[in-house]
Order: sequence, then C-alpha cells, then structure tokens
Amino acid sequence: MQSITRELGRRVTEAMIAGFGDQAVGVDPLLKSTQDPSFGDYQANFAMGLAKRLGRRPRDVAAAVVEKVDVSDLCDPPEIAGPGFINFTITPAAAGRRLQAVPPTADGVTDRVGIAQSPSPDVIAIDMSSPNLAKEMHVGHLRSTIIGDCIARVLEFEGHVVHRINHVGDWGTQFGMIIEHVRRTHPHVLDDPEHLQLGDLEAFYVEARRQFDADPRFADAARKAVVDLQGGDPETLAVWKAFCGESLRHCHVIYDRLDVRVEDRGESFYNDMLAGVVQELGDRGFAEESDGAMCVFLDGFTNKQGDRLPMIIRKSDGGYNYATTDLAALRHRISALGATRLLYVVGIPQKQHFDMLFAAARKAGWAGEGVELTHIGFGSMLSSTGKMFKAREGGTVKLRDLVDEAVERAHKVIEASEQDPDKRRGLSSGQMRAIAETVGTGAVKYFDLSHSLGSDYRFDWDTMLSMDGNTAPYMLYAYARIRSIGREAGVDYAAIPAETPIVLEHDCEIRLGKTLLKLPDVIDQAAREYRPNVLTDYLFELSKAYNLFYDRKRGVRVKDASPESVRLSRLRLCDLTARSLKLGLHLLGIGTLEQM
Ligand code: ARG
Repeated sequence: MQSITRELGRRVTEAMIAGFGDQAVGVDPLLKSTQDPSFGDYQANFAMGLAKRLGRRPRDVAAAVVEKVDVSDLCDPPEIAGPGFINFTITPAAAGRRLQAVPPTADGVTDRVGIAQSPSPDVIAIDMSSPNLAKEMHVGHLRSTIIGDCIARVLEFEGHVVHRINHVGDWGTQFGMIIEHVRRTHPHVLDDPEHLQLGDLEAFYVEARRQFDADPRFADAARKAVVDLQGGDPETLAVWKAFCGESLRHCHVIYDRLDVRVEDRGESFYNDMLAGVVQELGDRGFAEESDGAMCVFLDGFTNKQGDRLPMIIRKSDGGYNYATTDLAALRHRISALGATRLLYVVGIPQKQHFDMLFAAARKAGWAGEGVELTHIGFGSMLSSTGKMFKAREGGTVKLRDLVDEAVERAHKVIEASEQDPDKRRGLSSGQMRAIAETVGTGAVKYFDLSHSLGSDYRFDWDTMLSMDGNTAPYMLYAYARIRSIGREAGVDYAAIPAETPIVLEHDCEIRLGKTLLKLPDVIDQAAREYRPNVLTDYLFELSKAYNLFYDRKRGVRVKDASPESVRLSRLRLCDLTARSLKLGLHLLGIGTLEQM
C-alpha cells in the first residue's frame, strides 16, 4: 500500500515540469488529503505559489497542469476549484485495486500492511524518558517515555536508524547525600554492589535529604562525597555506581512493563568531554568570563529587564552545568553516533534551555546546516480537576503506582463483565490478568498520545478506560471484534486468496476503502510532524468508517453476504481494517488482543 499523496505528487510534478519547464523544478505540488469530500479526496495547492513565480493567473496555471497530468488510472478527471486548487477524487475501482495489492498476510515481524520503508534512511538520536536517578521515576517522566517511544517507533517503521537515548540524571551534588546515606544504611555495599536493593527510592531520597538538613556531620560527609566523586575516588565511585545501577533497575521494571526500549546513557558519560567543551568555546571566543563563570551569550536571548541572558557552561566554583553536559552530548551524538537528526522529547518548561543549546551548537558550528535539532516539547499532565498532578497524600505520583492503578481498574471492569451472565466469556483468571495489563497500560498511553503535544491535559480514569470513543479499550475491542468476525464467518483471513478482488460499491464500502488507503500518509505525517495524535485521530476515523460499514441498518452484509465474491471482498476489508488498527496501535506502543 503506497502513499497516494506521494503518487499523485509525483505525477503532478511531472505535469508541472512538462507545462512550465525549469521554472517548475523544485516546486512542491502541495498535495494533501481533504477534510471535506466535496473537494475530492486529495487536493494539490501549488498553483497559487507557482503562478506568482510565473506572473500568471493561478487558475490558468492549474488548468495547464490538469491538461498534462495523467491520473486516469487513479482518479476521476481532476477539477479546479476556488482560486486554483486541483481536486482529485479516487475512483472506487482504483481504490479497490490498491487495497487488493496489499499482501494478504503479515509482511515482516511487524505487519507493515504493504507499506514500504523510506528509501533514504537517516540516523536519528531521540532523547527520551531521561529521569533523574536520585529519585524514583515519577509521573512527569511518563509523557517523555511514551511520546518518545511512539515517535521512535514511527521513525523506525519508516526505516530510519534510531538511537533511543535515556539521558538520565546520574551526576550532580545531590549524589553526595545519597552516597553518604547508602554508606550508612548499607555498610556492605562495596562487597556486593549488585545487590544493593532499595524498595522505595523516593523514601530513600527524602530520608537522605532530611539527614542532610538535620545532621551537620552527615552534611559534611555528603559534601566530601561530592568532592571525592568528582575527583574520581574509586570507593566513592563504586558506591555511586551501585546506587545508579539500582535506580536504573527500578526504571527498567517500568520500561519493560510499558514495552519501551531505551539505551541508558547518563549525564556522567560525558564528564570527560566537559572541560574540552568549555575550553574550545573559550578559545574560539564564543564563551567569555562573567563574574567568574564561563558564559555563552547568544543573540536574541535576554531576560525581562532586557539584559543579556547567559548560558553558563562553567560555574564560578569550577563545576559544570546541565547545559555543558547537553553541549557535549549533542556533539557526541553528531560526531560519534553520526546522527543528522537530534530530537529531544522534554517538557515545555525546558524550551528556553533547548533554544539556547541549539543556538550555541549552531554558532560553534557543531551542528551544521545538514543537522536537524528539534525540541519536541509537551505540556503537563494535570489532575482531573486541572491542578498539578499529585498523589492523594500530596506528593508526586510514582509511575509504578499509576500503571498499577490503571491495570487494577481495567481488571475490575473485566471482572464485572465476567460476572454478568449476558457478557460472560468464561475467561480464566490468567487471561483476565493479561487482558487487564494490555488494556490498562494501553489506556494510559492512548489517552496521553491522543492529546496534542503542546497542551496540558487532564488525567481522567473514566474517559481513558471508557469502551466508547477515542480510547484504547474501544480500539482494542474493535480489533478483537473484527478478528472474531472472521472466525464466525468460518474464514481464515490470511488464507483468502490474494487474487480475490476488492470491490467497493456501497458508499460505506467506498468510505472504508478510502480511509484504509490513507494509512501510509498518516504514518508519514506523524513522522514528519512528530505528532502521535495524528495516529490516534486516524484510528478513530477508521473505526468510525468501519462501524458504518458493519452497521446492520446503514452498512452492508458481511458474514452472510452473497455472492461469495462479494462476501470475500468484504471480509478482506475487515481484515485490512484489523491489520491497520493493529499497526496503528503498535506504533503507539500498544499491543492487541485476539480476544477480549
Ligand atoms: N533529567 C532531566 C529532567 O528530568 C531531563 C533531561 C532531558 N534531556 C536532556 N538532554 N537535557 O528534567
């Protein structure tokens, strides 16, 4: 299944060049799918821009291209609308042919539903999750983890080489009190560093902090630990390592549960590079000393009073900053990993940090023109009443607890329906657990990813677990239901012969078929714009088109349709819908269930 906008774009480009020669070279045909079917299914909007360049009327330019473009195997004759839009309406026959060409069985470990990979893969470094190891991973890192995972999945699907970098905060003065606290509570840590086990990192941190504030001797020892750590004292380093290892193990319990893969590469990894970063920026005149600190000043960055805003890369006490590490990491990703696209999935409050980081990297020439630097910022997750998301007791909500609660709630819903004689399916307790795990984690992810990234959203259990609407339970149910239709109809979807034609006749069939054909474009768009909710919107649109198709009154007969050729055609549409839902959910990081 190939992208229709690319196909039409290619043909329109050819026609533009045939009509206007060199002047049309490099002009984007601006093809997109339309929202309103009265403008056709796809629209090309290049004519206004090209007309300006040529000094002609847009409608004339559009007409000249329409005359040259050959799309008769795909569309009705194109129409010109408004100031010079060209509308394309895919014929049902062409839509059916394209769908029929999709391989009938999964093509790849992940079923690609016939969608090809990008012919020109990039090396991409995506900075995601990245909690601070001194504390338990909390709900604030949920978004970075699941948004990062979704974007990485989409880019991997497109064929890019993706480094999923977990830039964990494993360095800094707060580790002094942690180290001292580990020494006191786990005196044998050095004998057996692997087995340092801390049930609750958050409580551990809070207690270390309390001691630091209350006990001057503890505070002195903690400060000394910082100095020793920075000085590379082997014993101190070993304690620090043991602690970071344990903290990372806590993180990975959650990553595993959420089915998220990351490469851990903490801030400390770059320690050896920091002095060089400062040295080079200083030598080349990009950094200057100000009140004893080394600072980079960048055009366009001022505070409210209009004073220049420094990016401090070495503090007056000689210590390095978050920004210094990020500069080193950026360089490393480009020079050592060979990445040409650096993405950072980090909350919007850090926007200015990344703006300055990118400006400094450009200025120093560390990121050349061919390198993309993007901060994929996201809003906050708020409570259902719109306040900061807090636990009932007031503290931050641990990610672990949140996931547990989601799964528990999903489990209750399943249990309740098993107790209802009308709904019972006789699931074993193991099956109920497995379903609850998929539904619970899927619900949290889907709900998060279905919001536009830039805005805050309110966390709401009832909505995210609802069986109705744009939610994971609904999509999962729709998928399982379609799979069961195949079983009820007595066919194995995968065994329907590939040459079985897909015939789109009824309005609801045509609509479903055309919606299915949008999938490659939707994935491209999500990849281009780094927007997971492009996928969720599409899945919702697809499930609505499917419901209409399968509707007893407004739709068509499926399982008992006749003749057999029509029945098989419709069953193939069911199968393609299920496979598209599965792929879409997979790209969101959500597994599917064959039965629900
Ligand atoms: N550890 C940071 C935090 O929790 C996020 C790091 C984001 N990544 C980066 N390269 N700065 O706020």
